[in-house]
Amino acid sequence: METKTLMQVKSECENCQRCPLGQTRTNVVFGVGNPNAELMFVGEAPGEKEDLSGIPFVGAAGKLFDKYLTAVGIERDDVYIANILKCRPPKNRDPKPEEEDMCIDYLRGQVRAIKPKMIVCLGRIAAMRLIKPDFKITSEHGVWFKKGNFDICAVYHPSALLRDPHKKDDMLKDMLDIKAKLDELQ
Ligand code: URA
Repeated sequence: METKTLMQVKSECENCQRCPLGQTRTNVVFGVGNPNAELMFVGEAPGEKEDLSGIPFVGAAGKLFDKYLTAVGIERDDVYIANILKCRPPKNRDPKPEEEDMCIDYLRGQVRAIKPKMIVCLGRIAAMRLIKPDFKITSEHGVWFKKGNFDICAVYHPSALLRDPHKKDDMLKDMLDIKAKLDELQ
């Protein structure tokens, strides 16, 4: 199978009308960061700020996520950040399975092109899609799974931390563990 470059995948995604979200989006939110990243984060879907800017994790949840990156010493520019869905679901509702099915090849293309060694799912929705359908975020956050050429785990979605600050200690622990694992690669 031919491996597409990240730019090829991006240009295919840019005018996508595979699902109805293509009609309601302002911008495709393809992904940002280092095209050779060892670590990739995958969220759920763009929210309002992301839809308006075309950049993932720039709203309130993104700002909180940035604080965790800084706290554990990970540079946002060194990693790659993307979502399961590249277009915003209206009113930020959960992605529909058929939307994920239509969109997932773009993420597969991103992973094939970037070849990260570690993937971290931000939240339950990404974990259920990328790790296993019955993933339980409360008991399995921070647990590493081996998949193909990379290790994968999930942490709480930053929006969940905004709703329930009690989860913040677990998030810091998981992020420190991710940084330690990243350092082991060097
Ligand atoms: N939530 C997500 O899952 N992704 C974003 O890009 C922003 C908020």
